[in-house]
Amino acid sequence: MADWNPALYTRFEDERTRPAAELLARVPLAAPRLAVDLGCGPGNSTALIAARYPDAAVIGLDTSPAMLESARARLPGLTFGLADAAAWTPERAPDLIYANAVLQWLPDHASLLPRLFGLLAPGGVLAVQMPDNLAEPTHRLMREVAASGPWAAAIGDPAVAGRLGRMLEPAAYYDLLAPHAAAVDVWRTAYHHPMADAAAIVEWVSATGLRPFLDPLDADGKAAFLAAYGRAIDAAYPARSDGRRLLAFPRMFIVARKAP
Ligand SMILES: C[S@@+](CC[C@H](N)C(=O)[O-])C[C@H]1O[C@@H](n2cnc3c(N)ncnc32)[C@H](O)[C@@H]1O
Repeated sequence: MADWNPALYTRFEDERTRPAAELLARVPLAAPRLAVDLGCGPGNSTALIAARYPDAAVIGLDTSPAMLESARARLPGLTFGLADAAAWTPERAPDLIYANAVLQWLPDHASLLPRLFGLLAPGGVLAVQMPDNLAEPTHRLMREVAASGPWAAAIGDPAVAGRLGRMLEPAAYYDLLAPHAAAVDVWRTAYHHPMADAAAIVEWVSATGLRPFLDPLDADGKAAFLAAYGRAIDAAYPARSDGRRLLAFPRMFIVARKAP
């Protein structure tokens, strides 16, 4: 897949960083020595961790060179490195492994989450937030438009491009982590973001969930797909009383603490 686009991603930075802050607020650690931001992106989540824990060593890891470059420019005093969350093993056990809006891109959560939890130091915390929006119109319509146009063969199976089947139910995450943890907190929140218009909703998902649908297409194919998808989004998100569109965005949060 093509590299991420930090400028496009940060266009809705306030909305994207709010769940990162709300996840961090639930981390029951007073003074971690080592905190790792997995899938740090452009450093927006890393900045929150560094601000809450000024005395901790904070490391940001990501698979995207463009995102890492953006994170280093934002936070020159911190350490950032290239690492795949699926295979990463730390040199020393972190007190906090924090993964905001990244693990939804990885398969096999039934082994991934216990593996990450197992990497923690005693008393450590795994904190995870993932968009849980694959059933929302934004994502359902990506799959429907992908299946029904001249781009269908290039995109392939919409369920694969749409990462269907990766997210588990809240109770499944609880069951995976509870036998190894001192405490597990799982919750689900639906944000409702006022968006200027339908184009803003398309722009929002263009930086994230729409990437696997657009990447296989050439410039003309991308434009045609985006036009069809934009019409579908316009119909699915009617104007509210002030003319704006309301983007419902469910997200799942997990905070699991290891026994000291
Ligand atoms: C949606 S952004 C989240 C950025 C930031 N954590 C935030 O809170 O907004 C997802 C990030 O995860 C990274 N990513 C995707 N797959 C990854 C993997 N296997 N290992 C590490 N990072 C990954 C992407 O490069 C991207 O920067």
